[in-house]
Amino acid sequence: MTATLAHRQKMYRAYMEFFELAERRRRWSVFEDIPWEKVDEAPRDDDAALCAETFCGVEMYLPDYVSQGVNVLRSCFGQAWFATNWGYEESKHALTLRKWLIDSGHRTEEEFAAFEQAVLSSTWKAPFTTPRQLACYGAIQEQATFVIYRKQLEQAQARGDVVLAAIYGHIAKDEAAHAAFYRDVIALELEEDRDGTLSDLAHTFAHFRMPGVGLVPDYDARVGVMRSAGIDRGVFLQRVWMPTMKGVGITRADLLGARRRADAGIAAK
Ligand SMILES: [Fe+2]
Ligand SMILES: [Fe+2]
Repeated sequence: MTATLAHRQKMYRAYMEFFELAERRRRWSVFEDIPWEKVDEAPRDDDAALCAETFCGVEMYLPDYVSQGVNVLRSCFGQAWFATNWGYEESKHALTLRKWLIDSGHRTEEEFAAFEQAVLSSTWKAPFTTPRQLACYGAIQEQATFVIYRKQLEQAQARGDVVLAAIYGHIAKDEAAHAAFYRDVIALELEEDRDGTLSDLAHTFAHFRMPGVGLVPDYDARVGVMRSAGIDRGVFLQRVWMPTMKGVGITRADLLGARRRADAGIAAK
């Protein structure tokens, strides 16, 4: 279905608002805004390093995320241009975590190179194939990522690790902004096609998996150590799914209603 002119204009405005805020208030520098001179002050923490390495691994599928995303989104101005800006912001996440792992002495250049090679030996495949489903997936995934990084920020602060706290603080703000943009897109899609969008949201929620699962090397072994970094189902529902529904202005009843209408439509055919 071709989007109406009004819809395209709203999408353009949503992206420009996002981009203006990003340019005016959220930009940060890998080089200037992290107190790298204090990187040796915090004691060695192997669990924190494993978490950082795993997140870095997930961020390193960036070429797959960007190439596949942009191809699907090419004709949707707001989402396509968001994807290009998003790629720049996400690239800083991987670069900063990589720099911390090496500068702090938790990994050598050689160890990181081996990790990078292992990460890139598999390819991320987009779990959904329409722009609207990718927006639904993005809203959930970015909010989940925000919650995970926010937790890392609190843990780094509690340990007195000012460098890692600064890193996670900047990354968490970016992830929150990404999630908010996707919620804006979904709200616009709901105005265009309420039932179709509700059905896509229900579908992506039911089939949601974090992007690193099954891809980052030794993911299952990492999860054991990273238990404190992860989010269980309760936290997922409370801090990821509920704010997403609230942010786009829908309730569980709306989703169930759309599901019932879809099932009735299928049964009637
Ligand atoms: Fe990120
Ligand atoms: Fe993000």
